[in-house]
Amino acid sequence: MKTVLVTGGAGFIGSHYVRCLLESEREVQVINADALTYSGNPWNLRSLEGHPRHRFVRVDLADSDQVRRLFREHAIHQIVHFAAESHVDRSIRSSAPFVRSNITGTHHLLEAALKHGVEKFVHISTDEVYGSISEGQADESAPLKPSNPYSATKAAADLLCLSFFHTHGLPVVVTRCTNNYGPRQYPEKLIPRIIFRLMNHLPVPIYGDGRQEREWIFVTDHCRAVEQIRLHGTPGTVYNIGTGETLPNLEVARRILAMMGKPESQIRFVEDRPGHDVRYSLDASRIKSELGWEPSVSFDEGLERTVDWYLNHSDWWESVKRRKTGGEQW
Ligand SMILES: NC(=O)c1ccc[n+]([C@@H]2O[C@H](COP(=O)([O-])OP(=O)(O)OC[C@H]3O[C@@H](n4cnc5c(N)ncnc54)[C@H](O)[C@@H]3O)[C@@H](O)[C@H]2O)c1
Repeated sequence: MKTVLVTGGAGFIGSHYVRCLLESEREVQVINADALTYSGNPWNLRSLEGHPRHRFVRVDLADSDQVRRLFREHAIHQIVHFAAESHVDRSIRSSAPFVRSNITGTHHLLEAALKHGVEKFVHISTDEVYGSISEGQADESAPLKPSNPYSATKAAADLLCLSFFHTHGLPVVVTRCTNNYGPRQYPEKLIPRIIFRLMNHLPVPIYGDGRQEREWIFVTDHCRAVEQIRLHGTPGTVYNIGTGETLPNLEVARRILAMMGKPESQIRFVEDRPGHDVRYSLDASRIKSELGWEPSVSFDEGLERTVDWYLNHSDWWESVKRRKTGGEQW
């Protein structure tokens, strides 16, 4: 039985990945380590309570003593590292928590992984490290040009991870995925925020002219890609994960309005985010050709499933509202 440490497993993507891993691998036990920040929600793990191969531990990765204790108490074979501060707007308001969790937290985990001879370290990163791509697609050799504190801290963590491979031979793999959406995403992010506002008869704010383009992936497709990479990814390699389904934010809003039977007059254009990247687009041919991964959920199908889920989970909304730290506007 292998023990896989999943960090950030009480958050949006991590909580889907933990289920994907437990369902696809019978001979794996999961240590799910999460600090339970504002976006880490125990509700997201409710259906795993009592699961014989899943154990939750509250750990702040930015605290080196807590990380050392985690590795002393558990014999960890592999790591899949999702834990991070993840929202661009928050990083613009205050970047210190991003440096702390995304850089210092990752560094503590790398040190512990090296000391304990971990056999695979999958670092979950983002397409945002490439910055805005005016045309074409970024492949894994594209220069890193992060333009906000969130993406800058993720890029720093990517480079630290790769340095541990080159310097120490730690078997690190880095993944860079496009925008995720699906059930249990914290409502500060574009898609659940639009749904929340429409459910509550509020106008839908869109930054600038709404023409910023993002590539979208349904969260379970991302998790399947990470699983392929955990099993078969080559150490020292970066894998982009994308679908090719690139849409302007305004079009995303329009599709949700149509699905929820709301008029386009609900849209309000608001002042743009400072340093807002205009376009992200990834070349994901490496993971497709080397590991045989393909996305399986189209944007329209995934969006239907997502809208439906949020409309039918008032208990999740209540749990998120109870954890609200104040001052947040969705
Ligand atoms: N959401 C996306 O579209 C997207 C796209 C590409 C990559 N990613 C990456 O995927 C990962 C997960 O993103 P998400 O959308 O699920 O975010 P999320 O905010 O929903 O979850 C992050 C989790 O990390 C935990 N965490 C934060 N700081 C921690 C710390 N110091 N110690 C332990 N746990 C800590 C939080 O409690 C939370 O449960 C992040 O690394 C993010 O950069 C996200």
